[in-house]
Amino acid sequence: MTSPLWFLPFLLLSLLEGTVGRPFYPLPSKLDYKDRQPLQTSRPYNIAHRGSNGELPEETAAAYMRAIDEGADFIETDILASKDGKLICFHDVTLDATTDIADQKEFAHRKRTYEVQGFNMTGFFVVDFTLEELKTLRVKQRYKFRDQQYNGKFSIITFEEFIAIALDADRIVGIYPEIKNPIFINQHVKWANGKKFEDKFVETLLKYGYKGAYKSKDWVKQPVFIQSFAPTSLIYISNMTDSPKIFLIDDVTVPTQDTNQSYWEITSDSYLEYIKDYVVGIGPWKDTVVPAENNYLTTPTDLVAKAHAHDLQVHPYTYRNEYMFLHFNFHQDPYAEYDYWIKKIGVDGLFTDFTGSLHQYQEWVAASAMDEKNASSLLHKISLMISSFGG
Ligand SMILES: *[C@@H]1O[C@H](CO)[C@@H](O)[C@H](O)[C@H]1NC(C)=O
Ligand SMILES: *[C@@H]1O[C@H](CO)[C@@H](O)[C@H](O)[C@H]1NC(C)=O
Ligand SMILES: *[C@@H]1O[C@H](CO)[C@@H](O)[C@H](O)[C@H]1NC(C)=O
Ligand SMILES: *[C@@H]1O[C@H](CO)[C@@H](O)[C@H](O)[C@H]1NC(C)=O
Repeated sequence: MTSPLWFLPFLLLSLLEGTVGRPFYPLPSKLDYKDRQPLQTSRPYNIAHRGSNGELPEETAAAYMRAIDEGADFIETDILASKDGKLICFHDVTLDATTDIADQKEFAHRKRTYEVQGFNMTGFFVVDFTLEELKTLRVKQRYKFRDQQYNGKFSIITFEEFIAIALDADRIVGIYPEIKNPIFINQHVKWANGKKFEDKFVETLLKYGYKGAYKSKDWVKQPVFIQSFAPTSLIYISNMTDSPKIFLIDDVTVPTQDTNQSYWEITSDSYLEYIKDYVVGIGPWKDTVVPAENNYLTTPTDLVAKAHAHDLQVHPYTYRNEYMFLHFNFHQDPYAEYDYWIKKIGVDGLFTDFTGSLHQYQEWVAASAMDEKNASSLLHKISLMISSFGG
């Protein structure tokens, strides 16, 4: 943070902020953590999946700042690496779905086919572009049914720029970065001194002060959850950082990318007992927790109970407001979905594309609980008055 180049991300951010009309926040060093509203820890975490990507193109500075405005506890991101080994925030290993790469004629010859998790994929791969080249691209909305007006306005950001956004917030906002596709990245990107992707990932967190076990003094100042679908990556970094880690779990048909283990193996009691030495929780796809049939939820599995029995948190993904993602049980109401997952299933955090909606839901629930408490204490006072008259 004392590097003379530290201000660079802010310079970039301030330029971006100009385009979306946001105030320029003070640098993190000017705002002591003690002066900032702490992270709430009394209710399930609101995890802004790729920022407020329901509204703005995913994993951009604008999407993360919107999520912070809307009440995110954590901003979530996927870390990949460029050809020259720089860590960036980007979800897919190819640029095709969420950037304007197709319009950039000078890169037309960069299309490749690589094997990714057992499948041959063709496209423009992040690992074939330097950071400087990636910065010339512009990000766009992934889904056609979402707001397209911000397409072409924002660039890909680096892991460091992402961290700067969190540290620069006017309250304490955690980060939730994923070690994304580590097998693929380590195959295609090489670092000096035999360093691996995971080493660079942890070095970046430590450089900016992210350290300490879950809810430790250091963690509370700069909260972080490290996530990965690859158990070997989580185990590998366990010697380098005690920051809390979350083991992501995919659909029941997808084996782990590194250890080729089935869903059933990694959700067994014996595996949860093993992995709990390395992680504080699991992040399962929500349809594996409560399977759906004909777009209706069926009976919940015992995964949450099993994880809780091993003292593991459960942070399922992904909650989305739109009708094409909402099961019919929720009669097109995303608040009904949150109510079900928080009150009935008892999850500890939720990855949402619409942080604002989850935040509103949680605020309303908290306010109505307060009303109930006030009403019952009023009744209590009235009954005391009546009994004192009676006496
Ligand atoms: C991918 O393509 C290569 C070259 O055509 C082939 O040798 C390989 O078996 C393919 N891999 C898969 C998983 O289909
Ligand atoms: C972690 O450190 C211990 C003791 O220093 C060592 O035995 C172990 O092999 C290390 N594990 C990894 C994954 O590097
Ligand atoms: C992964 O496991 C499956 C099922 O046991 C097996 O069929 C497959 O060959 C394995 N794949 C690799 C790459 O080891
Ligand atoms: C309930 O009571 C608390 C403290 O007594 C107060 O701060 C709060 O505003 C009240 N809420 C409502 C909705 O009246």
